[in-house]
Amino acid sequence: MTSLRLPGLIDPHVHLREPGAIHKEDFESGTKAALAGGFTTILAMPNTSPPLIDDDSLTLAEIAAAQKAVCDYGIHLGASPQNIETAASLAPRSSGLKLYLDATFGPLHLTDLNIIREHFGRWPHQRPILCHAEDRTLAAVLMVAYLEKRSVHICHVSRRSEIEIIRDAKMRGLDVTCEVGPHHLYLSTDDIPRLGAGRSEVRPRLATPDDVAALWANMDIVDCIATDHAPHTLAEKDSDNPPPGFPGLESSLPLMLTAVHDSRITLDDLVNKMVHNPRRIFDLPEQPDTYVEVDVDGEWTVREKGVSRCGWTPFAGMPVRGQVRRVVLRNQTVYEDGSFFASPGSGRNVAPAHQDKGS
Ligand code: DOR
Ligand code: ZN
Ligand code: ZN
Repeated sequence: MTSLRLPGLIDPHVHLREPGAIHKEDFESGTKAALAGGFTTILAMPNTSPPLIDDDSLTLAEIAAAQKAVCDYGIHLGASPQNIETAASLAPRSSGLKLYLDATFGPLHLTDLNIIREHFGRWPHQRPILCHAEDRTLAAVLMVAYLEKRSVHICHVSRRSEIEIIRDAKMRGLDVTCEVGPHHLYLSTDDIPRLGAGRSEVRPRLATPDDVAALWANMDIVDCIATDHAPHTLAEKDSDNPPPGFPGLESSLPLMLTAVHDSRITLDDLVNKMVHNPRRIFDLPEQPDTYVEVDVDGEWTVREKGVSRCGWTPFAGMPVRGQVRRVVLRNQTVYEDGSFFASPGSGRNVAPAHQDKGS
């Protein structure tokens, strides 16, 4: 077996559904899926039920995570019209402030430019702001970040118009970083007939082959590969009202190692986009004695069912390279060949307030 050793991967964009929808995923199943995919730190999104926008709701997620997580984690706070004045006080307990500015899943959709600007002005300047901002909304957000003299991280870039405006903004010195999801690199509108209407629902939507080509052509300015792991069950995806989102934690490293095999990116690019850049952008602690062993012999085929509770993947049947064999976290084998050896609750919260307590 040809084995490759990588640092523990970091995914800054994961939906874990706890509190509120643990039939889709919870902190245990989601962090196990993370380990199986080679991730040892994940940052969880706030569009849960209730959404994570105040002390009470954030506490619910912190308690669940402290009891169940098997890898390290941070929890992003959601921006809402209700927490303009209080969000900043929760910054030490969160890994960033997430603004949902376009069609999404859940109730955290902001449309009022005054509220958006207030959040940008009040959130601590040294802590991350992440935006779901597509197309024209992205241009608005870049302007707000510029005027408020602060950084902004753009989630799941999917279109030519978006990656090109980010390139131009970076060239002019704006403090902007961005992530791309493997689903927007490997799937397009051409795949919708094969996947079916419900199973191809995702926000941002699958884009055109020209958009996909633009993402690959601009990989040099893509800071992070983020899975946007957004699990919904097959019954939900195949229903009359399919929720948007794809699982991604278990397929993303194999897909990106396939890109390395195909010479579309280098292995250094992969490690920069899946380890070093997310650590720098989200100011995350080092994980000593932590690594992932990957079998890079030959091709294998993505299976429909994985560790995630959602029970499906849009990548089923796709030939890929690179299988995670073993994950070591802080000198302990926590995953090996399909088995987990980490006790629930052994994952650490990476938010500044929790690191200070050493928990
Ligand atoms: O497809 C999506 N799914 N886009 C989002 O913005 C939210 C996510 C989810 O939480 O399911
Ligand atoms: Zn989003
Ligand atoms: Zn998302």
